Amino acid sequence: MWKDDMKKGKLDNLESAIEQAFSIRKNAYAPYSHFKVGAALVTTEGKIYKGCNIENAAFTPGNCAERTAFFKAVSEGERNFSYIVVTGGEENLQSEMTDYCPPCGVCLQVMMEFCQPETFQVVAAKSKTDYKVFLLKELLPQGFGAKFL
Ligand code: THU
Repeated sequence: MWKDDMKKGKLDNLESAIEQAFSIRKNAYAPYSHFKVGAALVTTEGKIYKGCNIENAAFTPGNCAERTAFFKAVSEGERNFSYIVVTGGEENLQSEMTDYCPPCGVCLQVMMEFCQPETFQVVAAKSKTDYKVFLLKELLPQGFGAKFL
């Protein structure tokens, strides 16, 4: 963990959320990229919604792990989110990833719709003990959102 990550606010149940991101990653359907991603989205009340990437032979219908988690949660009526853990890497990797896997731009835009960029945190985890924490506004500094409409 980076020294200044503590300044970004408390990440309740982070260890469990990282474990759950690794666990759901096993369900990733990635026969084309062979890159499996798991995400654990934590609500402000501490409930965890998990997601994995789901690819498609036609490519564009594929969905990222983060959006799977968000769409599961939002469809269940959740609207308030605290942070998301993302872990991704080649399919043969298990408890330790080669790199920190940041969300793609489309997933950041979905986060922007439901989260405060100044407080929502994105945890890119290589393992249970090795991760980086970002604020959404750091990853999407000039994000487009509802306030423009
Ligand atoms: N992917 C995710 O699920 N989340 C990310 O943060 C980055 C990329 C997926 C999409 C695709 O199935 C595979 O990883 C390779 O891009």
